[in-house]
Amino acid sequence: MIAGTGIDLVDVGRLKKIIAKWGGRFTGRFFSQHEIDYCQKRAVPAIHYAARFAAKESFLKSLGIGLGMGVNLKDIEVMNDQQGKPDLILHDEAQRLLSERGIQKVHLSLTHTSDAAVAVVILESQRDR
Ligand SMILES: CC(C)(COP(=O)(O)OP(=O)(O)OC[C@H]1O[C@@H](n2cnc3c(N)ncnc32)[C@H](O)[C@@H]1OP(=O)(O)O)[C@@H](O)C(=O)NCCC(=O)NCCS
Repeated sequence: MIAGTGIDLVDVGRLKKIIAKWGGRFTGRFFSQHEIDYCQKRAVPAIHYAARFAAKESFLKSLGIGLGMGVNLKDIEVMNDQQGKPDLILHDEAQRLLSERGIQKVHLSLTHTSDAAVAVVILESQRDR
């Protein structure tokens, strides 16, 4: 059954400004090295950082929590498979919350233009909460 959904939209221009101002201090704080490597290889890294930031916030929303509520954004990691399909890899507190709630599977979809990036997360469980 569906145990939660989350959606988020991030303005690419806003992320561009933050990255221009803070550079690695920003990306290193919120993104894993794998995510940084993926984004930096793209023509416009900010688009892909924005999509990943949206994915992290969408995941928090799917759990009914928000920023600063115990989950480190770096522990919500986006990984693309060989076809480009994105998946969420959860670590530490993010993974603990999933186990506590009996979530079996996390679904993620991303889309972006040069202006905005959107992520949708769906949580799936085998039992009623
Ligand atoms: C999947 C696809 C429809 C995306 O369409 P699009 O309109 O160009 O791109 P969007 O802005 O809507 O979405 C881009 C996001 O789609 C996701 N995506 C890419 N390939 C995907 C796939 N096979 N399945 C699901 N999601 C995919 C990625 O998360 C990507 O963002 P990211 O690179 O920042 O992670 C298109 O890329 C496609 O047809 N791919 C076929 C597979 C392919 O060509 N792979 C090439 C690499 S081997």
